[in-house]
Amino acid sequence: MSTPKVQRTYSSRNKQAFRPPVPSSPPSTLSSSPVAPPAITRPTKRRLSENDVAPEFPLAKRLKAEIKPTVKAKASTKSASKVQKTLRQLHFNIDQSILRTCSLCNLSYTKGAPDDEALHRSHCARIRQGMEWGKDEDKGNGITEVETGIKLKTGKKRGRIVAFSADATGKLGTKLSTLLNTINLSLSAPELPPSVLQASKAYLFLVAHDTLSHRERIAGCVIAQRISTAMAVVAPPSSDESPESSSDKSTSADSAPAPIIVDINTNLYCNPTPLPTPMGIPRIFVSSSFRRQGIAKHLLNAAARTFIHGCPLDPLKGQAAFSQPTGMGQAVMMDWGKGAVRVYEE
Ligand SMILES: CC(C)(COP(=O)(O)OP(=O)(O)OC[C@H]1O[C@@H](n2cnc3c(N)ncnc32)[C@H](O)[C@@H]1OP(=O)(O)O)[C@@H](O)C(=O)NCCC(=O)NCCS
Ligand SMILES: [Zn+2]
Repeated sequence: MSTPKVQRTYSSRNKQAFRPPVPSSPPSTLSSSPVAPPAITRPTKRRLSENDVAPEFPLAKRLKAEIKPTVKAKASTKSASKVQKTLRQLHFNIDQSILRTCSLCNLSYTKGAPDDEALHRSHCARIRQGMEWGKDEDKGNGITEVETGIKLKTGKKRGRIVAFSADATGKLGTKLSTLLNTINLSLSAPELPPSVLQASKAYLFLVAHDTLSHRERIAGCVIAQRISTAMAVVAPPSSDESPESSSDKSTSADSAPAPIIVDINTNLYCNPTPLPTPMGIPRIFVSSSFRRQGIAKHLLNAAARTFIHGCPLDPLKGQAAFSQPTGMGQAVMMDWGKGAVRVYEE
């Protein structure tokens, strides 16, 4: 038996961990549809046990599949009476160039379709600059200010972190769900189910708005989820170890189970033994114009400190885990936990 492989998970979207992803399928030729939703071009988030053949959320494919031609082939009633002896295949020669992929947010959309363009504009702005946050939105709603006056690595701006229950309702719930939709679309990740939201807290990193004094930007977001177990990250098996020898090892009673591969592209391996782990991070996102300023790390530290009241968690002791991390997620995870942050399936 060879080493069990778990391929193309959530993280596999970024084979080249830090390079922009490419469309997972050729552009649709059915570009005559004016209302097709924009298609995301990244590989999708999948469960650890899924294989290449049946992705759980083939979003790009699904969205493209929904694009139906509005131009219907005319059923020729006039010529119905005439007997056509030879049937010929009709070919539409539609300019494929109207399906555009934005290099800033990686969304594919139909240029010239007003709905598509509007959707893209708002998605793109959120990905780059973050959604707006009104200072009055802090009031009530069970929002806690976790940290203030946080210095960013560059510029003079300071930020603050607020936290609230991820199953919030009302205006706050709507805001969070818009934010999570944007994040999910960007990661090609599925919606977090209500059961996960109920067990989670949202942490938002807010920075001053460039022009409006009473508003802020949501520069980053971390969702922290109560989990029970996760797997330790382990070193990849050495290349001179053949699959046969590793499987021999896994069957012998006194040896550790064979590591499983979580992300074939980044060579991320885990020991499959479930270990008690209190906090999982199913979503982490920082808007592109705020990256590499320490925001993700500030959010993670705030979550570790406050997620369980009176019980600060230590990533260096394996008390936190990421769900199938992307390449960038793995970079943060490694930097934050120095290899001790675990991996779990959300
Ligand atoms: C991953 C992400 C949240 C990181 O946010 P961030 O605020 O830029 O991260 P930080 O500035 O806190 O980075 C902390 C450390 O992580 C590592 N790191 C973060 N992003 C990295 C990158 N793109 N390349 C290499 N290392 C990176 C670095 O060690 C960094 O420290 P340094 O800047 O002093 O070198 C952000 O890039 C993002 O939203 N990416 C798209 C969504 C995504 O992939 N989310 C992860 C899902 S698991
Ligand atoms: Zn864009």
